[in-house]
Amino acid sequence: MAGLTLGVLISGRGSNLQALIDACARADYPARIALAISNVAGAGGLARAEAAGIPTATIPHREFETREAFEAEITAALRRAGVELVCLAGFMRLLTPGFVEDWRDRLINIHPSLLPVYKGLDSHARALADGVRFTGCTVHFVRPEMDVGPIVAQAAVPVLEGDDEETLATRVLAAEHRCYPLAVRLIAEGRVRIVGERVSVDGAEGPERAVLNPLEG
Ligand code: GRF
Repeated sequence: MAGLTLGVLISGRGSNLQALIDACARADYPARIALAISNVAGAGGLARAEAAGIPTATIPHREFETREAFEAEITAALRRAGVELVCLAGFMRLLTPGFVEDWRDRLINIHPSLLPVYKGLDSHARALADGVRFTGCTVHFVRPEMDVGPIVAQAAVPVLEGDDEETLATRVLAAEHRCYPLAVRLIAEGRVRIVGERVSVDGAEGPERAVLNPLEG
């Protein structure tokens, strides 16, 4: 199945990109990745894409005089590849409102917390400092404000006695790798509607519900 055409933007190791690559490799998955773009040369995720036969591009932000020029290059590459949905997966550049508006409702991000708490960096350190019993991850449509936008899917992850940032990040990352492919699938199946800045998922019951439970496989 060809399905929805994805572009994935990365800056680093690309484990979420890998989760999407693995999902897209399944015959019944309704999306495929047409292009992976990194703003960092040699990012680990580029090798993952190449290994899967996915076209890649490196667009280093430092080579552009303005953010707008950098983003125009990204948009041009995405358009050339026929991208219909842009997935941010550890892409470490803030995007201008112009870019976000260009891709409005066709641009999603994964963040390692249960938004709207712990926006920005160091979400796991802050969760540990607060002593919360649960944290998690969120896939959301991107809006100009950082880590804000209609929530497609979330997964709750327990914080365990003795956790440090690394153990917690590892547990959350495993949930991210389930959550991102789920969110993309729901969108690709045309079941996601944004109503008043909230997401409504058609037929979101049974194993396909948009909220994952940490006790389920
Ligand atoms: C993930 O934790 C993601 O939620 C955050 O950046 C990290 C990227 O990891 N936005 P990876 O590059 O996908 O392994």
